[in-house]
Amino acid sequence: MDNQTLPQIQTVGVVGCGLMGSGIVEVCARAGYQVVVSEVSQEALHAGLGRLRQSLDKGLSRGKLSQEDHAATLDRVRGTTDLEDFAACDLVIEAVLENLEAKRQIFRRLDEICPWHSILASNTSSISITKIAAATDRPEKVIGAHFFNPVPVMPLLELVRGLQTSEESYQALRAFGERLDKRIVVALKDNPGFIVNLLFVPYGLDAIRGLEQGVASMEDFDTAMKLGMNHPMGPFELMDFVGLDTMLFIAEAMYEETKDPRYAAPPRLRQMVAAGMMGRKSGRGFYDYRAKG
Ligand code: CAA
Repeated sequence: MDNQTLPQIQTVGVVGCGLMGSGIVEVCARAGYQVVVSEVSQEALHAGLGRLRQSLDKGLSRGKLSQEDHAATLDRVRGTTDLEDFAACDLVIEAVLENLEAKRQIFRRLDEICPWHSILASNTSSISITKIAAATDRPEKVIGAHFFNPVPVMPLLELVRGLQTSEESYQALRAFGERLDKRIVVALKDNPGFIVNLLFVPYGLDAIRGLEQGVASMEDFDTAMKLGMNHPMGPFELMDFVGLDTMLFIAEAMYEETKDPRYAAPPRLRQMVAAGMMGRKSGRGFYDYRAKG
């Protein structure tokens, strides 16, 4: 499709300014888009924008952007606690907690607020795009845009086509992703886990099962995959990084859809989440991060 005929994206809305949302805001604003980002409260917004500033500071200190780009990026970002402020957005990317009902409510509201040409995307890692899209009167303009943490560093954008996503919406998101300088892969089907988690979830769960069975220590599992396969993090380090609650949620969503035992969460994962051991974000997961602060 000719880029000239695609819907022009100038202003991007991001719903949620958590770890993923703030990263998405950063890459969009750095690519020159005007960005509106929403949170549920002023406190959450303040924390999210603080995270954005911190990441830009890190980029500056690492020589990834200039002082001028740092200032210009922040200038392009506007925070709000009111979804009505998305009324001028050509694209909105939702990045809230993984909960189908919460997402459907947000999409229903966005469908009422946003202009008819706007594309509505979800950063979900496991929920069916088709089910989210069904909450709107524009399912052809609903698509999955799955980013990876840390968003400014990870080069991948996984696009997911729902059952009714149009070719035009898909091509518009492709052009958008390329402007963000991301490499794009596309899940042609709205299958549980899309591409990345179809592989990553059974891999992580198998590592836990291996640990439960006493195959090796978690340190040796991690070392094996880092030094033997050249992965930047081993499976336990990576699951701690992703968040064990997120890992459990994704596994359960995939199991629910498929009943495939590969996605059944091992007892150890359930117990750790019940105990509040969520990984890095809670200070403790497979590893203990509390000493490092
Ligand atoms: N802005 C711009 N650049 C930044 C940056 C920022 N805020 N923070 C770091 N960088 C750059 C650094 O300058 C560095 O660049 P160079 O290599 O050019 O010097 C690079 O990013 C790496 O940064 P660090 O040196 O600080 O960190 P590291 O080498 O220890 O790597 C890591 C950290 C990138 C997290 C690495 O360990 C890694 O790739 N881990 C795996 C991450 C992963 O797999 N993420 C996906 C999780 S799955 C998910 O998100 C979705 C899901 O559905 C489960």
